[in-house]
Amino acid sequence: MLSQLAILSIGFASVLGCRTGTEVQVNKDWWKTTVFYQIYPRSFKDSNGDGVGDLNGITSKLDHMVDAGIGVFWISPIYPSPMADFGYDTSDFVNIDPEFGTLDDFDNLVAKAKELNLKVILDFVPNHSSDQHEWFQKSIRREDPYTNYYVWRDAKCESGTNICQPPNNWISVFQGSAWEWNDERGQYYLHQFVKGQPDLNYRDESLRKEMENVLTFWLKRGVDGFRINAVPYLIEDAEFKDEPLSNNPNVPQGYYDSLNHIYSMHQPGTYDIIQSWRDLLDKYATEMKSDTKVIMTEGYGPIDFVMNYYTHGSNVPFNFFFITDARSGSTAEELKSIIDNWMNNMPDNYVANWVIGNHDQRRVASRYGTNREDQMSILCLILPGIAVTYNGDEIGMVDTEISWADTVDPAACNTDPEHYEQYTRDPARTPYQWDSTTSAGFSTNPTTWLPVNRNYISLNLAAQKAVRHSHYHVYQAMTALRKLPIFKQGSLSVEVLAGNVLAITRSVTGATPIVVLVNCSESSVSINLKNSIAVLDQMTVYTSSVSSGITPGRIVTTSSVQLPAAATIVLTSPRLYQLVYGA
Ligand code: BGC
Repeated sequence: MLSQLAILSIGFASVLGCRTGTEVQVNKDWWKTTVFYQIYPRSFKDSNGDGVGDLNGITSKLDHMVDAGIGVFWISPIYPSPMADFGYDTSDFVNIDPEFGTLDDFDNLVAKAKELNLKVILDFVPNHSSDQHEWFQKSIRREDPYTNYYVWRDAKCESGTNICQPPNNWISVFQGSAWEWNDERGQYYLHQFVKGQPDLNYRDESLRKEMENVLTFWLKRGVDGFRINAVPYLIEDAEFKDEPLSNNPNVPQGYYDSLNHIYSMHQPGTYDIIQSWRDLLDKYATEMKSDTKVIMTEGYGPIDFVMNYYTHGSNVPFNFFFITDARSGSTAEELKSIIDNWMNNMPDNYVANWVIGNHDQRRVASRYGTNREDQMSILCLILPGIAVTYNGDEIGMVDTEISWADTVDPAACNTDPEHYEQYTRDPARTPYQWDSTTSAGFSTNPTTWLPVNRNYISLNLAAQKAVRHSHYHVYQAMTALRKLPIFKQGSLSVEVLAGNVLAITRSVTGATPIVVLVNCSESSVSINLKNSIAVLDQMTVYTSSVSSGITPGRIVTTSSVQLPAAATIVLTSPRLYQLVYGA
């Protein structure tokens, strides 16, 4: 399967970024149409049987990424951390947590990835450190240059009394006041996330220089870029004004969404910080004559705010709108409007990106429905630009139910047994399901840091490889398609057809278009494609959602395409199908 195209793509990859004679060819565009894969390291692969994933585990599974057609992977934090927020509370920005391995293991991972033509991106967590970080301890003691590395403020006291409160009404993303009193320093510090994550102060020049050194440290170790965490929180309003109430009747007082975060998020200075990191990465790439170093920015928010990251140095301002605005019952019109909104707002000559899952959200298959998971991944992979996949979504892993007693995510632990399910991110973070052996092949240890989903006996990568039509094969077929010129240069058309069907067409002059049809309704429909799209009389189902029951390879008459309820199919010319599948 996928034989000829696989050979074509290997040939293509081998001419990129390689050395010819003494000349190094720099590839500036490597990231523009590739698939980015997120690895949640605690749950990807455990190499030493302690029940927690690690770097050597990732190295041992690099072949999976090649097989899946992925070009680059980004790894959630692997730095030393007390794990109050599972690595997003960093106690040393330039080392590896022993739970994950060593710097040597990291170097080995990068070297092996390069051999396989895979790029490596690290999660950079600049908004905050752990309260265990040496810088924070020194900042408490007002030791320079660390004195102002964090956001410290005096208590607000009623004049003439010793009745004092935090500096303002800001609330942490994980609920409760965003301020924590420190007795030794005699001031409050800001923590927009848990109290073990004090916010760093980007109004302090020494801190900014320090964080630049962190980026350079990892660039020198061979990374190809950074996914920058929690960007909208980097800098706060200089006057620390109280935030207005959101007046949302569904949110209890003291919960994050009870305020409108107009002073603690999306402040103008944020963009300058990202631009300064862009400049640093570009300078490094030019000096080292290396391929483009990529910046991905994590920021949920209004579209204008997100688009602004493009013009301030982000290659991939994450497009979370499929996550925030699409749902299991989304109509064709709604999906079209999510796509159009991004394409129409994106500044000219930038590259689109499509994200459907990550470690902070419920699993794709659980959010959109198990009959819609292929639909969403096909959409993500056919639209122009970059597709981002969260590990496990390529095999349709579903949420794992975690009891209150087993809950470890601070976003849930900071609530109560009644509300935790609304906030917990644990269900999407359970171990990767490789096969049907102990702990799904994730670990030799039957006990893992989060329980393995009990469905692993049937839902696993090995089982999906063994059958002809599986979520994994749909995924693989789509990533293979992306290597073709029609994907790389083809134009895009998004239409809503009668019967609540979304049609996505990718075309290039002189070739038969590729057409994706998504039946957004729960009833079967018949479509005459010849009315609207320049298709052949007969086309081949290149791939299709597993639940559609339509086997890839089937020939359809385009004047009357039968689409079962919720089915998604990808139509190509019979010739393209044969080229890829060698049939
Ligand atoms: C990460 C979360 C993390 C938070 C605080 C984010 O946006 O994706 O997993 O809890 O930052 O660091």
